[in-house]
Amino acid sequence: MALKITVIGTGYLGATHAAAMAELGFEVLGLDVVPEKIELLSSGRVPMYEPGLEELLAKHVAGIEGSSGRLRFTTSWEEVGAFGDVHFVCVNTPQKHGEYACDMSYVDAAFTSLAGVVREGALVVGKSTVPVGSAERLAALLPAGVELAWNPEFLREGFAVDDTLHPDRIVVGVRGERAEKLLREVYAVPVGEGSPFVVTDFPTAELVKTAANSFLATKISFINAMAEVCEAADGDVAKLAEAIGHDDRIGAKFLRAGIGFGGGCLPKDIRAFMARAGELGADQALTFLREIDSINMRRRGQMVEMAREALGGNSFLGRRVAVLGATFKPDSDDVRDSPALNVAGQIHLQGGQVTVYDPKGMENARRLFPTLGYADSALEAVRGADVVLHLTEWREFRELDPAELGEAVSARIVLDGRNALDAARWRAAGWTYRAMGRPRA
Ligand code: UDX
Repeated sequence: MALKITVIGTGYLGATHAAAMAELGFEVLGLDVVPEKIELLSSGRVPMYEPGLEELLAKHVAGIEGSSGRLRFTTSWEEVGAFGDVHFVCVNTPQKHGEYACDMSYVDAAFTSLAGVVREGALVVGKSTVPVGSAERLAALLPAGVELAWNPEFLREGFAVDDTLHPDRIVVGVRGERAEKLLREVYAVPVGEGSPFVVTDFPTAELVKTAANSFLATKISFINAMAEVCEAADGDVAKLAEAIGHDDRIGAKFLRAGIGFGGGCLPKDIRAFMARAGELGADQALTFLREIDSINMRRRGQMVEMAREALGGNSFLGRRVAVLGATFKPDSDDVRDSPALNVAGQIHLQGGQVTVYDPKGMENARRLFPTLGYADSALEAVRGADVVLHLTEWREFRELDPAELGEAVSARIVLDGRNALDAARWRAAGWTYRAMGRPRA
């Protein structure tokens, strides 16, 4: 008989995983402790913007016309315990307030609740990003006869569905052969096809995730450090990135210089990794991550200074600044630790009249920074602007007509915080175009 799967926590990770499991043919039950989320998901809608996810849910959520009916949602732990052969724990582990460490309270609560209802013989699979050593501690919370496995997730926001259905690798930390066998069954077809399946122990599986994110963060801060040097030496970081990226050992991806990384993962993951290494007495091994973090945070201030300089080098008081982009990256409505909003907020605090526009992130941005000005379109945002900042590289912004925008602004100055606009096109339309780490031309 086919395995029955539950997914605990229905954020980006959980909602996508649940829908993907249903797509693979499993009966799936998703649980969240927030009733409003469950209500929304049960009607096939998602509480965030993630391309393709709503379509996948509509294809499978029970009660939707024409759906497979394989996917249901609940708030009941009893139901989850009685239903599941394999339980995936997908709750979040945000950064603790005022500390580097991550907050494990949601994971701990999920394991405690699950331990009270899980059937003997079931498998519990942790997917949340946790400090190394957590799996061993959490395994002890589960009743005898219930195994644990750790199976980190590498999905990117904006590509969550595709990354889940076609992962570039599957990593499972197990203690016994049965857990491995069950997970091979879960990921057999079509997900597993062509994806390397790496079997390891608990600590290595936990570390794979934090190591991967630390490496990605390092790549971005490396190229941003090169951007700083390029600025000082009048070099071009975009050309430099292109040239070093041709070396297969380096690779061309994640070498886009700009205002740096943000979001709910990379910043908090490298900080939690440092905190955990400290607890383990291995803090010296990760001191470089502190530098990665500070290079990254410095970029935001440098963008603010670039804007100040473009306005004549004095105060922002009374100056109109248009900000294109609020989310931490395109194709997402996520504004958590967004460099774009941080820059907008800093300029606003210094007296600038900031107007922000983002294709999908307006609602979340308004909630987080209610005192900033907002506009309903890029054209509205730039109206009367003394300087335009391009801070999140949405396709919509790359496709803007610089000539049309030029008619609306008070000065044709655009600062590209993502090195993503077509410099020649903007310059041809009479704009002063400046990007981070590139010559002024
Ligand atoms: C990341 C990891 O990529 C993913 O594997 C993990 O599961 C979760 O964390 P995500 O947070 O969705 O995913 O975003 P990602 O695409 O990695 O981008 C992170 C940030 O880095 C964004 O703010 C992006 O703008 C920035 N970035 C990315 C750069 O500044 N330059 C680059 O070259 C690439």
